[in-house]
Amino acid sequence: MALREIIIIPDKQLRLISKPVETVSAEVRRLADDMFETMYEAPGIGLAAIQVAQPVRLITMDLVRKEGNGLTEPRAFINPEVIAASEEMNVYEEGCLSIPEYYAEVERPKQVRIRYTDLDGNVQEEDADGLFATCIQHEIDHLNGVLFVDHISKLKRAMVMRKFEKAAKRGIKYV
Ligand code: NI
Repeated sequence: MALREIIIIPDKQLRLISKPVETVSAEVRRLADDMFETMYEAPGIGLAAIQVAQPVRLITMDLVRKEGNGLTEPRAFINPEVIAASEEMNVYEEGCLSIPEYYAEVERPKQVRIRYTDLDGNVQEEDADGLFATCIQHEIDHLNGVLFVDHISKLKRAMVMRKFEKAAKRGIKYV
C-alpha cells in the first residue's frame, strides 16, 4: 500500500468524468488499497479515485472507523450508480478532502438504492440511508466531476472557489 496525494480545488482534474472500470484487476485492487490508506490517513470517511488523480469509477468508504475506537468497515464501490432515490430529502453538513476545512449544508435524497461492483467482481444492489446515503451520493458526484459546493448557493460557491484559487496562486498547499 502507498499513500497517494489528494488533489484539491481548483485542480481541473476534479471536473473530469471518470471512466468505468472494465475488470476488477490487481491494479484496481491496488488502487483501492492505496485509497483506503490515503483516506484513513487524511482522515476522511469517503474518497473517489479522481481525488488521487485517477479518473476511474472507484470509491472507498468507511463510516465506522473513528480515531481510537478500533473499529473499521472498509468498503469499496466500483462503477456505482443510484438506481432509485426517495422523494424525502435530508440535510447534512458536508465536507470534502479536496476542499479542506470547508463545510456546508447540502440537501440530497434521504434514501437511495445503489448498484455497484465489489472488489471480487460481483454486482451488488443495496439500500442506503442516513450518512451512508449522503456519502455515496457525494462520492458518485465526484465520478461525474461534481463537487458538493455545486449544491450550495452561487454566492457561497464563488466565495470558496475564490479563496482556493487565491491560495493556489500564492503556492499555498493545504495538507
Ligand atoms: Ni468529496
